[in-house]
Amino acid sequence: MRAVIPREVLGTAVTPDDGEIQLIRDGTGYAIYTDGQVLMPSRTHGSEEMMAKIACHHVGRVEQPRVLIGGLGMGYTLRAALDRLPPHAEVVCAELMEAIVEWHRGPLGPLANHPIEDPRVRVIVEDVTELIKRREQKYDAILLDVDNGPIPMTVAGNWWLYAKEGLSELFRSIGPGGMLIVWSAGEDERFLERMQRVGFRAECVRVAARTGRRKRRGRGYAHTLFIGRR
Ligand SMILES: C[S@@+](CC[C@H](N)C(=O)[O-])C[C@H]1O[C@@H](n2cnc3c(N)ncnc32)[C@H](O)[C@@H]1O
Repeated sequence: MRAVIPREVLGTAVTPDDGEIQLIRDGTGYAIYTDGQVLMPSRTHGSEEMMAKIACHHVGRVEQPRVLIGGLGMGYTLRAALDRLPPHAEVVCAELMEAIVEWHRGPLGPLANHPIEDPRVRVIVEDVTELIKRREQKYDAILLDVDNGPIPMTVAGNWWLYAKEGLSELFRSIGPGGMLIVWSAGEDERFLERMQRVGFRAECVRVAARTGRRKRRGRGYAHTLFIGRR
């Protein structure tokens, strides 16, 4: 008989859409849920780290790279970026939910070795769509992992990021030679086409969920990274 893993709710917060976001501990792991669906488990984070590795490799020759990460989640993407960026890099991390940032000062902090404490990081508690619409600055790389793919899940307003309007604005927010990466659980041909239509040289790669390596046929499950070069 399979042992029942106890689930403990460590925190609950209300999203701007009146939805619910929860931090759950199940056994030795954690998961962030939104309206009862898993948004991010702590067990697998290879593909979340891979998006940072690809972007940091791409901006490798920039002396003072500016990187925007939306959202914070468990901080694995942020940590993977910090571990590869130079000392003068600037990393803006836009997180919609104040509670997520609070949870980083508690149980989530140690998971990715306290990434929000790094002096190169500016955490902004704000909807990343609003930040992009303000066009305050250009970035060398923008990494978006706010839903489970290019379909809104956390809040309805995230649709903008995946539509022509948002993608065009993202294109304008990235400096020449820069890169956009959008994390997704699955493939989406039409989203890829939309990225290409607004000007990105876009491709989609399948990455092993656990290790973050390029997916090999039939081995474990995979996630998708939509990569757009400007
Ligand atoms: C899947 S998690 C990110 C996981 C992260 N890549 C990691 O490695 O842990 C999604 C995060 O995006 C945040 N989020 C969702 N919509 C957002 C938005 N419009 N602006 C900023 N953050 C958002 C959620 O609150 C959540 O913290």
